[in-house]
Amino acid sequence: MTKQVKKTTVGRPIATTFQIVEAYKAVRTNLLFALAPHDRKIVLVSSSEPNAGKSTVSSNVAITLAQNEARVLLIDADLRKPTQHRTFRVKKHNGLSRILSKELTFEDCVCRDVALNTDLLPSGSLPPNPSELLGSAQMVALLEKLSAEYDYILIDTPPLAVVSDALVLCEKAAGIMLVTRQGQTTYDELRNSIEAIKNVNGNLLGVVISDVNDSSRPYRRYVRGKYYKSYNYSYSQSPEL
Ligand SMILES: Nc1ncnc2c1ncn2[C@@H]1O[C@H](COP(=O)(O)OP(=O)(O)OP(=O)(O)O)[C@@H](O)[C@H]1O
Ligand SMILES: [Mg+2]
Repeated sequence: MTKQVKKTTVGRPIATTFQIVEAYKAVRTNLLFALAPHDRKIVLVSSSEPNAGKSTVSSNVAITLAQNEARVLLIDADLRKPTQHRTFRVKKHNGLSRILSKELTFEDCVCRDVALNTDLLPSGSLPPNPSELLGSAQMVALLEKLSAEYDYILIDTPPLAVVSDALVLCEKAAGIMLVTRQGQTTYDELRNSIEAIKNVNGNLLGVVISDVNDSSRPYRRYVRGKYYKSYNYSYSQSPEL
């Protein structure tokens, strides 16, 4: 019998929903191991360069963690180019930036149950000073309070090679999960990001390679000893709203 393989318009195989779900479950398992020694289950999600897939990975990992009967909060801390509000079809106006500028409270802004056991804190309106807001005492206090309310907090951030927002948050989190994209992220970019994380005494929890063509195995020498799992497409959509 001939095996049927779906192809995209560019001739690459499309992962089945089963493969995608299983890939995210594997990321969840490895993330849980990486988080085990840490009290605060706060995970930053970043990448070296733009467009690596970090918003897609953070929303899907949040949903997958929450399926384990955990209470999960996804924070859109990309205060320059937020997208999580579109993924979950909510408004971004009331969100993180307005809590940090003391205009609103978390309760005013949180979008409850955007997925099973998952809440979303959208970005809020775009501020002129994102790094300062994210590095503020208000952010420390917010994460302190939210750590008591949620089992896991995932924080979607801008790319490391562009701005230092994710690095500013490093000391407040258990660690950082780096997303790379096959055919896009270069070894140099990945090496520089890992160096930058080390320089602020951050903890690299692992590397996820997105948009992988199964026939090749890139980056292997960089991620040995850390968790890594490839995946081919997301199961949360990002419609333009
Ligand atoms: N595994 C994948 N396979 C194919 N396309 C993907 C994959 N992951 C994400 N995409 C698509 O790539 C684009 C960028 O993804 P995403 O917004 O998650 O990246 P990002 O790293 O958050 O980008 P930015 O740096 O702009 O915040 C989106 O159009 C998304 O739908
Ligand atoms: Mg993004």
